[in-house]
Amino acid sequence: MDISGPFPTDAPATSRPFSDHTAILHGGDYNPGQWLHAPEVIEQDFALMRRSGCNTFTLGVFAWTALEPEEGRYTFAWLDHIFERMREAGHGVILATPSGGKPAWLAETYPEVRRIDEQGNREPYRLRHNHCWSSEVFRARIRALNTRLAQRYADHPALRMWHVSNEMSGACYCENCLGRWQRWLKDRYRSLDALNRAWWTAFWSHTYTRWSQIDPRDEAVDGLRLDWRRFQTWQIAEHFRWEAEPLRRTNPAVPVTTNFMGLYPEVDYGRLSEVVDLVADDQYPFFDAEAEDLLERVVRVSFKDDLYRNFRSDRPWMLMECAPDWVQWSSSYRLKRPGIHRAEMLQALGHGAEGTLYFQWRKGRGAFEKLHSAVVDHVGHGDTRVFREIEATSRTYTKLQPLLGSRPEASVALLVDWECGWAMEATCGIPDDTAAYLETCLRYYAALWRRGVTIDCLRPDRAELSAYRCVVAPALFLLHPGVASKIADFVRGGGTLVLTGNSAIVNESNLCHTGGWPGDGLAEVCGIWQEEYETLEPGKHRAIRLEQPLGGRAAGEAFTADRYCGIVHARGAEVLATYAESFYAGTPCLTRHGFGEGQAWFLAAEFADGLLDALFTRILDEQRLGFPLGGEKPPGLAYQRRSNGEAHFHFLQNFTAEAIEVSLGEHRLRCLESSVEYSDKLALAPWQSGVYVETRKINHPSPAAR
Ligand code: GLA
Ligand code: ZN
Repeated sequence: MDISGPFPTDAPATSRPFSDHTAILHGGDYNPGQWLHAPEVIEQDFALMRRSGCNTFTLGVFAWTALEPEEGRYTFAWLDHIFERMREAGHGVILATPSGGKPAWLAETYPEVRRIDEQGNREPYRLRHNHCWSSEVFRARIRALNTRLAQRYADHPALRMWHVSNEMSGACYCENCLGRWQRWLKDRYRSLDALNRAWWTAFWSHTYTRWSQIDPRDEAVDGLRLDWRRFQTWQIAEHFRWEAEPLRRTNPAVPVTTNFMGLYPEVDYGRLSEVVDLVADDQYPFFDAEAEDLLERVVRVSFKDDLYRNFRSDRPWMLMECAPDWVQWSSSYRLKRPGIHRAEMLQALGHGAEGTLYFQWRKGRGAFEKLHSAVVDHVGHGDTRVFREIEATSRTYTKLQPLLGSRPEASVALLVDWECGWAMEATCGIPDDTAAYLETCLRYYAALWRRGVTIDCLRPDRAELSAYRCVVAPALFLLHPGVASKIADFVRGGGTLVLTGNSAIVNESNLCHTGGWPGDGLAEVCGIWQEEYETLEPGKHRAIRLEQPLGGRAAGEAFTADRYCGIVHARGAEVLATYAESFYAGTPCLTRHGFGEGQAWFLAAEFADGLLDALFTRILDEQRLGFPLGGEKPPGLAYQRRSNGEAHFHFLQNFTAEAIEVSLGEHRLRCLESSVEYSDKLALAPWQSGVYVETRKINHPSPAAR
């Protein structure tokens, strides 16, 4: 039975993810619809846009009432005018469909567009991002508006891209939405028998005899909870396609996307990426030069970027939103220190982004976001610190144009699957939720990041593993069909696998694998059997002893595990570390197993301290993978490299308050901005970032060539 599910995948509508893409996109959300009463402000905007050097503006994200003040009465004149001004100025437009915020007239005339909450109550009209997904009225009204937008602007020379709705998320529990969920299940499982088997519903007498009995709020059935999450992502994808249809039909050359929300746990962005023409993120990392955890934040963003780049690995991605300065909704109001904005933007470019746009161009005078940072402040001129930083960023981007079309190339893959998090979250007995699962992935990512290697974060069901030398799979709790054999083939063929406890526990329906963990054949690949596990409360640790030297650490050295301890028997694997306390003292917690031409490492526990670093030192040294400039990567340095077959671009970023000296070995680098050449070593002042092209021919093995 194929239960991979009816997911609305599209062939990409366009092979040109950024049409007329000759510059790094730079600009932001522009809301002239809030200023129609003040044409002089709009004049001022166009003067400031020219001065800022920005080239791309997103229009109309929440402009429904400005475009359709009452049902069926459309007011496009102002937008016509803005489009013309954009064309004259040579700026590109990203035009949004305005469904992120619905008009009061719509909510009043048609109460059904308002969501029903989990308790069964109709929500009052309020806020945004909260329409019912299946309301026929809502769908008809937004389709009518989008069709008119397409007819009017799809061929406009300034249009570069469509932006559907805004940060789509959430669920509605009305009769129609529940009916849709039940029809979705029917498409997926075909028969109630198949569904009952897949969900193990004989438990607590939950065997369903009619589709209408299946209520997503029932927490008894783990498979149901997992499918409810899948359905919500499907629903967003379906809505996206509904809105995109007239846009794509009218001019297929213009790419269509929507803005994602970083590591938001409730939407599987890997899946949603299949229906957009390019991946776009809203990034709010709160980089604060004075925060002690700044480097951790930097690594977290880096992890997200390496996921986002690989959602659609054949094309660039972009930041659709980020803040030019502080964000009014954060718990503390901390200004972005000078230089931090530039560093945040270069970090995204280093990871393959080719556009960074701001929320927002100008601060509105009122309502919820009046104090949110913007390129143009209430003062109304460009003589501000923030505006000058944006001008400087534009100048930098002009110098960085040679980057266009290049990409980071990785030899190490980290497998990340939202569905693992969802399955854990739905499983009573596993304390982790989706956010905690992503934190676990981040822990392994960070250990690799510290070594300075480039990492591709990949969905296990889609990943082509043979292109990599090392594959790291943290807490791969759920296995899609075919993933275990793909991993086994990878190791058999000479690859190095790092698998951790809490992996291969359930199948795609959240049913436990039988025959021993890790299931589906991965116990044989790793040469172990995990019999039991226990979890440790926050702050609790389990002592570990290293039995053999590893990555520069000596046998006998003591380490600790936290959060998760799997109890494992070696079945052919060699034991490199054991637990040093509790009734399972002396049993393995780190093993290595030769399998075919390759090797599989199994980490039964979550290593709390240097053991993970020692392990990756060993593995990466063995594979001759490491910091591409040679030696050790300085700890406070964020490093990325983009290549295009001919040129290699190194991104060196100092995210600390101390100067950093980077040894260049045989490399010779030229700064793309200053043209200064560096050999031997390169000094980075506190918070300094730069992009450097390699000027000496050095043979960088490309992953494809291996
Ligand atoms: C989100 C939204 C924007 C705005 C910003 C504020 O990303 O998409 O409309 O509310 O947050 O930070
Ligand atoms: Zn609904």
